[in-house]
Amino acid sequence: MQDIVIRKIKKLDINDVIKIGTAELKSSANEIKEGIKTAANYQTSKTFVALKDEKIIGFATIWWEAKACKIGYIAIKKNEQNKGIGTAIIKHIENFCRKRKLKMLHTSTQPDNEKAINFYRYNKFKKTGYRKDVFEKGVNEIYFTKYL
Ligand SMILES: CC(C)(COP(=O)(O)OP(=O)(O)OC[C@H]1O[C@@H](n2cnc3c(N)ncnc32)[C@H](O)[C@@H]1OP(=O)(O)O)[C@@H](O)C(=O)NCCC(=O)NCCS
Repeated sequence: MQDIVIRKIKKLDINDVIKIGTAELKSSANEIKEGIKTAANYQTSKTFVALKDEKIIGFATIWWEAKACKIGYIAIKKNEQNKGIGTAIIKHIENFCRKRKLKMLHTSTQPDNEKAINFYRYNKFKKTGYRKDVFEKGVNEIYFTKYL
C-alpha cells in the first residue's frame, strides 16, 4: 500500500468528503454535511480522513459514550477500494479508542451490503445483532462489535 496519511478532518476537506460520501453511501449531501457538522460540535465525536498524495480518498466518523465507540460513516473512494485503506482507517480508530480506554467498537450495515459485511469480518468484528425496520419499514441492519 502506498503512503496513506490518516488525520482529523479540516474545514477545507468537507467538499471532498461529501463527494465520496454521496457516491458511496445511501445518504444525501445534506445528511453527510449535517452529520459531520454535528460531529464537529461534540467532544465525543471525530471525523477522520485518509489521504494519498495529499488528496482525500476516504473518511470515517465515530461517536463514543461510556466504554463504547460507534462508527457512523465509513467510505472509501471507489477506485481506491480493496487496497487496505478502509482497514487502515479501522486500525487508526482502534488506536484512538485504546488511548481513550474505550473497550469496544460497534458498527452496523445493511444485510445486502456484502462488501461491508466482508470488510468488518476481515477486520475481526463479530456479528452481535440484527434489527428490522431501523430507519423505516424494510430497512434492516446487522450489528457488529470488536472488543479492543
Ligand atoms: C466497505 C469499505 C469502507 C471497505 O473499505 P476498503 O478500503 O475497500 O477495504 P479494505 O481494502 O481494507 O478491505 C476490503 C477487502 O480488501 C482486501 N484487502 C485488504 N487489504 C488489502 C491489500 N493491502 N491489498 C489488496 N486487498 C486487500 C480484504 O481482504 C478485503 O477483502 P474482502 O472484502 O474480499 O474480504 C469500502 O468498500 C466502501 O467505502 N464501501 C462503500 C461504502 C460502504 O458501504 N460503507 C460501509 C457502510 S456501513
